[in-house]
Amino acid sequence: MYPLHRPRRLRTTPAMRRLVSETEVRPRQLVLPMFVKEGLASPAEISSMPGVLQHSRDSLRKAAVEAVQAGVGGIMLFGVPAERDAVGSGGTDPDGILNAALADLRAELGDSTVLMSDCCLDEFTDHGHCGVLAADGTVDNDATLEVYGEMAVAQARAGAHVVGPSGMMDGQIAFIRNALDQAGLADTGILAYSAKYASAFYGPFRDAVESQLAGDRKTYQQDPANAREAIREVQLDLAEGADMVMVKPALLYLDVLRAVAEVSDVPVAAYQISGEYAMIEAAAANGWIDRERSILESLTSIRRAGADIVLTYWAVEAARWLDR
Ligand code: PBG
Repeated sequence: MYPLHRPRRLRTTPAMRRLVSETEVRPRQLVLPMFVKEGLASPAEISSMPGVLQHSRDSLRKAAVEAVQAGVGGIMLFGVPAERDAVGSGGTDPDGILNAALADLRAELGDSTVLMSDCCLDEFTDHGHCGVLAADGTVDNDATLEVYGEMAVAQARAGAHVVGPSGMMDGQIAFIRNALDQAGLADTGILAYSAKYASAFYGPFRDAVESQLAGDRKTYQQDPANAREAIREVQLDLAEGADMVMVKPALLYLDVLRAVAEVSDVPVAAYQISGEYAMIEAAAANGWIDRERSILESLTSIRRAGADIVLTYWAVEAARWLDR
């Protein structure tokens, strides 16, 4: 008796495997998150994210041009201000570091890439929360919306094509949409961080933005135990006018990503976050895994699970590998 079915036939040669491969990762699908720090003279290494830099305004401009030349689909910009306050004034100030750097990049790059900006307060508040606080110390949802609206308008005026609200406040997409429209910015898009989990894997990012957070974000970010509420969050954001929706983190939430991809009628993004980056880099640095293969396998898996767009700190390097 011979086996009737031999799936191995489709794996016999590289040409055969290439022919039957289901999932492709293309440079244009990758978005590079970048950090710019106020008052920095030259770029600084982030120790928990080897290979990722806090940029000066100058080095950011050059690195962004290189990223676009490498073929990445977009850039997501985060700002690290020199000073912070309770309401995150640096985020709404047109001269604040994030807005100033957005203007630099838009002037440099025009419409040659999709320029995105983190629309969230945590980098700008002295308490490190994603919103403003009520008298009792809790994050005040509706007061935060007012600031997000102002921040989104400032970012769009500075040059963002797409704003990325990542604070998980209720009603943030509708509020920001309305604020943009009222300001005559109907063409500015919204990438909604719809299903964003309270993850332990954001640690290195918090180093990158020098986060002041003392507690956690569990009253606004989702519980890792829950999948159903991700669908609810996505449906709310779609109803509120999101142009794209996102799941974050990526690798630990591929089931959520798949479920979201099945209900979304707009492009779905996934954010391969700092902790995912750090894990692979650390294991590769120890010689425990093959770096390039691991990175490309992780990106392929995120695409296979249903992401149209992947935010990844490896965007430029991966784009170069994929173009070989
Ligand atoms: C919040 C924000 C965070 C990340 C992106 N936007 C941190 C957080 O929610 O604490 C994390 C990204 C990463 O870990 O790579 N503005």
